[in-house]
Amino acid sequence: LVVRAGPYDEELIKTAQTIATKGRGLLAMDESNATCGKRLDSIGVENTEDNRRAYRELLVTTPGLGEYISGAILFEETLYQTIRDGKKFTDVLNGQNIVPGIKVDKGLVPMPNSNGESWCQGLDGLAQRTAEYYKQGARFAKWRSVVSIPSGPTSMAVQDCAYGLARYAAICQGSGLVPIVEPEVLLDGDHDIDRTLEVAQEVWAQTFKFLADQKVMFEGILLKPSMVTPGAECPTRASPEQVAAYTLKLLKRRVPPAVPGIMFLSGGQSELEATLNLNAMNQGPNPWHVSFSYARALQNTVLKTWQGEESNWKSAQDALIKRAAANSAAQKGEYDP
Ligand code: 13P
Repeated sequence: LVVRAGPYDEELIKTAQTIATKGRGLLAMDESNATCGKRLDSIGVENTEDNRRAYRELLVTTPGLGEYISGAILFEETLYQTIRDGKKFTDVLNGQNIVPGIKVDKGLVPMPNSNGESWCQGLDGLAQRTAEYYKQGARFAKWRSVVSIPSGPTSMAVQDCAYGLARYAAICQGSGLVPIVEPEVLLDGDHDIDRTLEVAQEVWAQTFKFLADQKVMFEGILLKPSMVTPGAECPTRASPEQVAAYTLKLLKRRVPPAVPGIMFLSGGQSELEATLNLNAMNQGPNPWHVSFSYARALQNTVLKTWQGEESNWKSAQDALIKRAAANSAAQKGEYDP
């Protein structure tokens, strides 16, 4: 039945299925140094390599984390770091039954001749980098491109986003890394939920067209979509049931059932909102595993609790387990606040 057999096909399918296991989702801890700096700054901690390392050590050494978290997305710096006892982060994660992943895009830059939009860099030399990341123990990857609704968006920006994601996905699969395909439709703007659905449909239509053109194996990818919500500044808000109905409508119209898992980003939603919305999406059977890949919605309280103090280490880890367990329950549609 295999139409195009790549050397890593079996492994890619197995990795994707491991990540998409019942009651588990992803911990996104791949903030760039600049973004991590903003997070540390919010608790008055200096943005040094060692403070970033210490904070991330707190996250990955949380006892029992692997029960709720199937994979962790690392920033390149972390892939090469060790925790204080000298163990590599990747070994700590594997010991917790958590698959190590790596952010491979090189960030967003302004797109010339667009409506103030951006495009995502990082394709040059990517095959060499992904081969090296595999050697270092990574088994999946992330590439985040964005689409802005108030900027139009222009068809040029949407196509570029989709093309870049497909090229990246094909390169990752050639190196044994499961690509997470993330065209983030930004929350910013005062548009209503129908407008978000309209734009997201176009983004995913283009994304799957280019993924198919580039012969990406759908059984060996994961998606990281934004939930379909009203814009952040839209006066009319949506209930978790509405967000779930719109988001599932989008996915059913655009995502083939061959794709094993949908791992949502939180995109600035509160911790509770992100959990309630995920829970609402899992009230009935879905053709794919519908789960989370949250950064802020898993880490906000952890950071606030830690405050950079050794004495808060354990209570910060308790805060992480609390959010991870809540989202695990939401993945099964069993969250009770
Ligand atoms: P948020 O969940 O904070 O949106 O971050 C997820 C992520 O990794 C965006 O790429």
